Amino acid sequence: MNTPPPRHQRPTRLKSFLFGAPYYPEHWTPADRRDDAKRMAAAGVNVVRMGEFAWDRIEPSRGKYDFSLFDETIEKLGSSGIETILCTPTATPPVWLTRGHADWMRVDVDGRAMAHGSRQHCCTNNPGFQKESARITNAFAGHYRENPHVIGWQTDNELFCHMSECHCPACVTAFQQWLKMKYRSIGHLNAAWGCAFWAQTYDRFTDIPIPHPARPTYPNPGHQLDYYRFLSDGIRGFQSQQVAILRKLNRSWWVSHNGTFDHIDHWTFASDLDFYGVDVYPGFSGKPDPDPVWATLKNEDCRAASGNYVVFEQQGGAGGQHPYLLATPRPGQMRLWAWQAVAHGADGVLHFRWRTCRFGAEIYWNGILDHDNIPRRRYEEFAREGEEFRRIGPHLLGTVPVIEAAILVQNDQDEAHRTMPMGLPAPSDQRKHLYRELQRHHLPCGLVDASDSFAGLKVIFLPGFVLMDEALASRLRDFVKNGGTVVASARTATRDRFNRVLASTPPGWLGELFGITVEEFGAHDPLTFSCGKKSVPAGSVYEIVKPLESDGATTIARWNPLPDHAPHAAPGTAAFTLRKSGCGRAYYAGTFFSAENSTELVSAVLKESDLKPLANAPAEVEITCRAANRRKLTFALNHSGTAQAVRMPRGGTDLITGKSIRGQFRLAAYGVAVIETT
Ligand code: GAL
Repeated sequence: MNTPPPRHQRPTRLKSFLFGAPYYPEHWTPADRRDDAKRMAAAGVNVVRMGEFAWDRIEPSRGKYDFSLFDETIEKLGSSGIETILCTPTATPPVWLTRGHADWMRVDVDGRAMAHGSRQHCCTNNPGFQKESARITNAFAGHYRENPHVIGWQTDNELFCHMSECHCPACVTAFQQWLKMKYRSIGHLNAAWGCAFWAQTYDRFTDIPIPHPARPTYPNPGHQLDYYRFLSDGIRGFQSQQVAILRKLNRSWWVSHNGTFDHIDHWTFASDLDFYGVDVYPGFSGKPDPDPVWATLKNEDCRAASGNYVVFEQQGGAGGQHPYLLATPRPGQMRLWAWQAVAHGADGVLHFRWRTCRFGAEIYWNGILDHDNIPRRRYEEFAREGEEFRRIGPHLLGTVPVIEAAILVQNDQDEAHRTMPMGLPAPSDQRKHLYRELQRHHLPCGLVDASDSFAGLKVIFLPGFVLMDEALASRLRDFVKNGGTVVASARTATRDRFNRVLASTPPGWLGELFGITVEEFGAHDPLTFSCGKKSVPAGSVYEIVKPLESDGATTIARWNPLPDHAPHAAPGTAAFTLRKSGCGRAYYAGTFFSAENSTELVSAVLKESDLKPLANAPAEVEITCRAANRRKLTFALNHSGTAQAVRMPRGGTDLITGKSIRGQFRLAAYGVAVIETT
């Protein structure tokens, strides 16, 4: 039987690299739009995305459809060689649709029903709204089922970007039904959640509330975790209904979605799509200069769930909304971020949006063209990208990012942390510190979902994997048995999938693998451990790790006394251990991966591994690699405002300049090189 390749190595199978912009013909007069197709084509655009907020335009009143604006626009663009991605318009239900249906509105934690006047106000779990979603999807997509210029669909827009939790009666009922499906008997639920605690025992499913902040103190973590899983399944169900309709109407369309928001299990959500998509606005990571690792992880979150993917919205200028204004990308950064997405597996990039709107909530969200419709430097930079992607796109398609050092990700772990954060680093914080460190070494690294195949990986980091089950534990054991390296942090494998602490001594299922037991967990501030001659800051959390007596781990680092020598049980005990078995290695850190300790922990692991850097370069230069059978593309991305030197292990051709590269080369400020070697 052929096992499918790991999802993180899955190409999109798009026929051409997509380059373009979200486009809103409904916002413009014919005079404004007159030169759009011509200007887009001149900038190398081959695709636009349309329709996600245009329900009122295509169905001005119930059952009266008017597709004329989109018919005309799709045709005009098509005859200039520009194809169309359409979206189901369900993020913005028109006012006539919700009139008389107060019960279709989302309800916030304070019990306030959302009103018409912005977007995403309807509840996606409401059966009435779901019917409308199916109806408009059928009508819109049915109209274009034979249109040769429509190549694929985006479902809705950024599901859960504003509100994921809804407290309407339909959600309460749906949650209770979801629980009934999962547990079958109320007794099973009571046992799973540990309802004996604080007399929470239920005697029927219909009494179970949505966990709500209006309660005297903290909720049951089992209840909370199931609620988060319910949110994810609910939104997946909403999307699947649209996906099924689209697939039935035209088998050659691909279907995707833009957005990797919280309370969505990206792995299962993306399973229903041909590939996943994401919107990347690096400006959200801070001022004055965005953090490149923030944008990397935005891309990586999507890629881990999807394999190769598309960026449906990439920042194109300063972005202003009611309360804030994001920093303007410096000249060259918009192009750099587009290439950064490609370096992480994007097979298409669309810059948000074609032209800045003159009305509505986003009048200061810069598009490629300004309000006055005059192309300026953003258009020039956009056109430069267009020219590069047109030329280099065919080399990119079919290649996938190379990952040997994986940071494992699993939605359940992020959700489990949210149920019991205790002010401790979240798995996402730990991922960021690890990623920064691995990228600083320029290793082939990235996020991999725990449900994916581990084939091809050499090292797996487990940041914040507090939940464990025998199936995942045995895959990790096999990975090490076959020569792989696993690196875990504090509290790994201490809870079961019901979010209850296990009775076995930690790390439970993985005790033998790491060759340790964890004897104690607690907090003192500020802690340090000694690694060789170095004293490493370790935040406030410690675990006392004890190597097993037979076939146990060796100690790499030990806890230091507290600075004031106050009495404490940890000093002198193991803080970081290694158990070797054959070629396999299992490291256990009795602390969380942090900004302060990741350098030491990661370099101890790298010392014993055969991972090789893709190139030598300063930390500001990001290096990744995409490969297919015989092709190898190395991406060098300079995130700094000064030129940097990069040294490649082998020569090749820079596809951007066409020049051959041998050994060392210089990368301009915010510059990009794509070096092809065979
Ligand atoms: C995205 C959204 C767009 C637009 C953009 C700029 O999150 O999908 O519709 O709102 O942000 O704010």
